Amino acid sequence: MNNDEAYAQGLLSKALDPSTQPPAIRAFLQQEFTLVRHLIRPGSRVLDFGCGMGRHLIGLQNHIACGVGFDYERASIDEAARLNATANCHFFVADATRVPLLDSFDAAVCLTNTWGTMSEKTAVLNEMRRLSPAAGSRLVTVYAAKSVPARREWYANMGHPVLEVTDQEIVAAGRFSSEHFTEHRLRKVLGPCELHPIGDIALVAQC
Ligand SMILES: C[S@@+](CC[C@H](N)C(=O)[O-])C[C@H]1O[C@@H](n2cnc3c(N)ncnc32)[C@H](O)[C@@H]1O
Repeated sequence: MNNDEAYAQGLLSKALDPSTQPPAIRAFLQQEFTLVRHLIRPGSRVLDFGCGMGRHLIGLQNHIACGVGFDYERASIDEAARLNATANCHFFVADATRVPLLDSFDAAVCLTNTWGTMSEKTAVLNEMRRLSPAAGSRLVTVYAAKSVPARREWYANMGHPVLEVTDQEIVAAGRFSSEHFTEHRLRKVLGPCELHPIGDIALVAQC
């Protein structure tokens, strides 16, 4: 198995089930949403890379002018469409390395370590820059190095016990790989950015 197969087998639903989430992870998910809402200007047009079941855009519906989310997992997009009762959010299936859109947005987001599980990170960043060209309009959440103990418990609760931890990633059963970043490594990959820490669990990079 790899990350694509783990997502295809329903990993996201297990991750978003509160019963799998240690308290520190549950708190992080709430704090991330609050911070993202604060960082996105009201009335923005927002593009969500790897939107899963659309929870961020649907939650922001009264704050933004329009939300467009995509994910390569059809089952997640079908679920996003089912949950979406808004007129201003739209979801479709696409790969984050080749987004079939031409018009630019006011903001692009890639949240909850979605980017940290993607293999072609530079290609995804290039697409975020193309589709949301203004500096500071891109938000990328990654896990922080100190998040390992909480994630170890979370992944085990999802049925993916941790096999290996390095200073850059956790590899869990099924060869699911999830990266974590020091501020130094993140700045090296992203270039100039403002970093907003969320406790010990994550960093939201605004770039
Ligand atoms: C950690 S989940 C987060 C989902 C959502 N952003 C959330 O926070 O609820 C990562 C998501 O990225 C999607 N994904 C991973 N690689 C992708 C790619 N190359 N293109 C599009 N979606 C991708 C997965 O299918 C999964 O839904």
